[in-house]
Amino acid sequence: MDRAKLRKSKKGQGKQIVLIAGATGGIGSELAQIYASRSAKLILMGRNKEKLLELQSRLNQRRNVSIECLDFRNLSAVQQTFKKCYADLVINCVGIGEMADFHKISAETETEMMQVNYLAPALMIKQLIRHFAERPIRVVNICSLTSLIPHPFLAGYSASKAALYSYLMALSGELKVRRAKLRIFTYLPGPTQTDFFPEELQANIGGSKMQMSVKEVAEKIAEYIETEKEIAIIGKRNQMVYRLLNILPLSWRIWLLAIILKRGVGE
Ligand SMILES: NC(=O)c1ccc[n+]([C@@H]2O[C@H](COP(=O)([O-])OP(=O)(O)OC[C@H]3O[C@@H](n4cnc5c(N)ncnc54)[C@H](OP(=O)(O)O)[C@@H]3O)[C@@H](O)[C@H]2O)c1
Repeated sequence: MDRAKLRKSKKGQGKQIVLIAGATGGIGSELAQIYASRSAKLILMGRNKEKLLELQSRLNQRRNVSIECLDFRNLSAVQQTFKKCYADLVINCVGIGEMADFHKISAETETEMMQVNYLAPALMIKQLIRHFAERPIRVVNICSLTSLIPHPFLAGYSASKAALYSYLMALSGELKVRRAKLRIFTYLPGPTQTDFFPEELQANIGGSKMQMSVKEVAEKIAEYIETEKEIAIIGKRNQMVYRLLNILPLSWRIWLLAIILKRGVGE
């Protein structure tokens, strides 16, 4: 990491209140480990109280870790919670996805993906801007390479992540011209070793050979947060693959991905 840049970005930040939504997941729990010692107070947010308590007891060496239950499918609860839940740094790692032939994905799942991956984070940011306009909050969202390239067999997931990415980019411009204090940071991992997709499916499309470790991904995200990098694809290989794919016309890119990902759904 560029140490001069890091020193400059850390100047005046001190220890802050950090909220991690989706803290019980692969990337979220790894970030929770990183921020347990770096923050004045860490708020672990998730939908499953038992998992949150278990993570809290693993991290709570300094009694600065609290938990907050919230289901992102409940959009009015999301709005209520972020009226009052303040943090200097909010990292949203919540996400759901299903990889399958499009006709096998139910209307309920398609709806939930839009609610959880797009609408809930959009409403979360709106509430933070409305209720904490005077505070310099940094909001980090974890998008995906699917935000930039539509992935066959992940059509609904790609659409929800593209919607989130598009919203974040547009909102970030709006906030800058309005000189708002809240700032938006957007990171895009590629395939990562977590339980996000079933094990067998991951193995069918190359398993760990194609994935980054969750530790590497979380460390990179934390590094980008510290250096205040606004938008980044996570990992050199993912950045290179994205650049190479971009040489091809969109229809070829999607055709190539379709061939690779078809193996994932086992047909
Ligand atoms: N893994 C990958 O290959 C990959 C690649 C690119 C981007 N991403 C993105 O990275 C983020 C983190 O993913 P991950 O790999 O760490 O997956 P993960 O281990 O499945 O974590 C997902 C997190 O979201 C939470 N969550 C799911 N539905 C929720 C709901 N309705 N309300 C509140 N929380 C909910 C989960 O809670 P529970 O623990 O209770 O299930 C978990 O904490 C996601 O946004 C994902 O789209 C992942």
